[in-house]
Amino acid sequence: MFPNPSDAAFNIDTKIITPDLIEQAARCVREGGLVVFPTETVYGLGANALDSRAAKRIYAAKGRPSDNPLICHMSSPDRAEIYCETNELYYRLARRFMPGPLTVILPKKNDKNGVPVIPDSVTGGLATAAVRVPSNAVARELIERAGVPVAAPSANISGRPSPTALRHVIEDMYGRADMIIDGGESEIGLESTVITIDRNTIKILRPGAVTPEDLRGVCGSVTVDPAVCEKFDGVPLSPGMKYRHYAPRARVIMLEGEDEAVYGFLADKQDCGILCYDTDTPLLDRPGTMSMGKKEDHATQARRLFACLRDLDGVEVIYTRMPSRDGLGLAVYNRLIKAAGYEVISL
Ligand code: TXA
Ligand code: MG
Repeated sequence: MFPNPSDAAFNIDTKIITPDLIEQAARCVREGGLVVFPTETVYGLGANALDSRAAKRIYAAKGRPSDNPLICHMSSPDRAEIYCETNELYYRLARRFMPGPLTVILPKKNDKNGVPVIPDSVTGGLATAAVRVPSNAVARELIERAGVPVAAPSANISGRPSPTALRHVIEDMYGRADMIIDGGESEIGLESTVITIDRNTIKILRPGAVTPEDLRGVCGSVTVDPAVCEKFDGVPLSPGMKYRHYAPRARVIMLEGEDEAVYGFLADKQDCGILCYDTDTPLLDRPGTMSMGKKEDHATQARRLFACLRDLDGVEVIYTRMPSRDGLGLAVYNRLIKAAGYEVISL
């Protein structure tokens, strides 16, 4: 029924979408299969969000703990109405940021037998579901044609950096998914902003390309969950925050300090990886050094971060500079501090 793993990679030019291939992928989702597809943030590993067995296959393919809920991707914001309790603030956010890199947690609805329409196995046993309407053309067409919400975590082995290019997907998912759709390099490179809403308050559980400042343009009260920046020992609002995340195999250590102090610290370090800024590369010029972009260019840092972490891997330690937490910088900082398991050296 599905192509076997040896022909699992399909090339699709996102500008010339091949309807036949999308239809094949949509059928695969409807029939309980797993499809890796591009989104504007990172690649997703998609399955029918109404099918418990398909959801279980996602957890198995990723090696993901079953209490970490999946995001349900929909073709338009009002589709959420069928599965969840929506409200006025949700629609205000949807008008401004959907389709796009925003995920909203909403209470799940029950069917007439009192059973949640989105199964508990998809939402890690929670009474809420995460709703996202991606903007990527291939993703939208796939979800529309599948005719069901598509549960899709990032298409990486659990704990590894999310995939932002076909080569990453192949590294992690080859032979584990029924189909892989190549959509080129991800436009944003970091996962969506995940928020909860409570009347007129927004809480950011995971920062992304929709920044706190963007959200404040729609709603006066926006807070950032402390688990975004700090180690957290209690029960986190977003179960995903518990686990070491976004990490290469190497130990990652963040360096906090002025340029000169960082250069001094790195001067005698050998055989390590270094993740730095454009302006650092002439001074740190040696193998194993990669730039994530200009110091203030958070969009480029976001786009390159996960690819750099994968490309630098193979050493024992990767030292990284500490991005500022302004705007999209907060998301870059969040992924790096998690990859580092909160290991920071202050210089
Ligand atoms: O950009 C993205 O969001 C990508 C693409 C593929 O859409 N998807 C993605 O999914 O990053 P995943 O599963 O890797 O991350 C989902 C995050 C996890 O941290 C999870 O704990 C949280 O969202 N989450 C999902 N449902 C939740 C819920 N009901 N309550 C709280 N957190 C939830
Ligand atoms: Mg993920």
